[in-house]
Amino acid sequence: MDSVSSSALGRAFAPSALTHGECARGGAPAPCSLVIFGASGDLTARKLFPALFRLLRGGLLDPRSTVVGVARSGMDDDMFRRRMKQALQDADIFEEDLWEQCAQNLHYHQLHYDSPKEYAALAKRLGQWEAERGDGGNRLFYLATPPTVYGTIAEHLGRSGLARETEEAYARLVVEKPFGHDLPSARALDATLHEAFAEHQIFRIDHYLAKETVQNILLFRFGNAVFEPIWNRRYIASITCASSEKIGVEHRAGYYEHAGVLRDMFQNHMMQILSLVAIEPPALFEADRVRDEKVKVYRALRPFAPERLREHLVLGQYARGVVDGREVPAYREERGVSTSSITPTFAMLTAYVDNWRWQGVPFHIMSGKRLQEKLTRIVITFRDVPHSMFRDVAQGDMAPNRLVVDVAPDNAISLQFQAKVPGAQLCFRPVTMRYDFSAEASGTGLDAYEKVVLDCMLGDQMLFWRQDGVEACWGYLTPILDLCEACGDAEEHLHPYPAGSWGPQASLKTVRTLF
Ligand code: BG6
Repeated sequence: MDSVSSSALGRAFAPSALTHGECARGGAPAPCSLVIFGASGDLTARKLFPALFRLLRGGLLDPRSTVVGVARSGMDDDMFRRRMKQALQDADIFEEDLWEQCAQNLHYHQLHYDSPKEYAALAKRLGQWEAERGDGGNRLFYLATPPTVYGTIAEHLGRSGLARETEEAYARLVVEKPFGHDLPSARALDATLHEAFAEHQIFRIDHYLAKETVQNILLFRFGNAVFEPIWNRRYIASITCASSEKIGVEHRAGYYEHAGVLRDMFQNHMMQILSLVAIEPPALFEADRVRDEKVKVYRALRPFAPERLREHLVLGQYARGVVDGREVPAYREERGVSTSSITPTFAMLTAYVDNWRWQGVPFHIMSGKRLQEKLTRIVITFRDVPHSMFRDVAQGDMAPNRLVVDVAPDNAISLQFQAKVPGAQLCFRPVTMRYDFSAEASGTGLDAYEKVVLDCMLGDQMLFWRQDGVEACWGYLTPILDLCEACGDAEEHLHPYPAGSWGPQASLKTVRTLF
């Protein structure tokens, strides 16, 4: 497909004055103690600590802030500092001077998650550091542990007084996904968290929401006059939201075997993408107004008809195959996975939003591991022209218009439309008008974890799940999971697909809409 790159088209997608959310909300937050539970784990080394370091480098983390790693492993401050130094070197962002400054405020506290004494000791140490640095006493507790201990930690934070806020200082709890395993467990977890923390103190993370292009969907839809009038069933034929990955289950089989793709990707990331594409315009760009509208979308999702389950849901599991020229094992051959596992690693689900705007428009939602490409993309396919006056005189197919939102690896929005091929004959070809966000960001953009931590410190819940949204999504997905998991013929409906392909045959029609 050709690309139109004239300056006139460039101007059509020229950047506005307000490009980044932070510009609207202003500067670095007040200093705080960032207490990371599960600090000996992978998430802290790979994502969290590098994100904090980058925030510090960019002037978005107050240098008086303290980072406290908390975990069961026996370690002292020096050992923890060595690990974090290594993490920065691995991420290729180590800077000696900044590290010297940051290492002084980096501590480790060994703690068994159910030991009241050890929480009391943590409270005491935090109080001492805060007094020494005069940092105001703000506290952010980040749960980067296995989800099974979320409730226990929250309970003990409450009992030890660490969850208490004052007029001057906040205490916030950041919870990683998965938030529950189904609707009843999500409700039970929420009840436990609320015994110690109020809703405004709880930040339920979805790192997809912090991705630059995902955030941009709202601006694109509601900051422009031209798209909203056609953003409905009258002009849109279908919507595809896809997130494909090349990686397999890696070292996470223990978690993934119980989660599968529906819990791992649909209950959170894919539902958030769907809601941003489908919501009604909120009255204000304000966390609760936006989240109110999202919940309305989730509540409007048409419950799955059990007799049409197989028509609207394709589940798959990767078999052996070749990814990037390398032979890779089948899911059932991965370490920690049962040789007879029926956990799906791929799903394609067709959802309908039963409201005035979207009646009858299929939302095809797809995600899978060990696919051909890493690609997170939303495709809005518009309806065909109502009447083609060119049908007898022109050559070539009149492909429908498409709006493509690329979230990863590209950050771009493209509009595809028909144009005449220059020359004497009347021929059509589809062309693309594209705006690339990454070209413009040039180092000013924040990665998803930087954005998440920054917003927690600022107390902005816009990019976080609210409990009613979590429950509405579980309310939609739990019956589907029950149907898939409880039926005796689950294996029969699990389509194997070769690693490195685009998933099971049954979903290829939807995959084609992506390109
Ligand atoms: C995580 C899932 O939430 O998202 C992983 O648990 C998945 O299984 C990851 O690999 C994908 O995130 P991203 O940002 O790489 O698309």
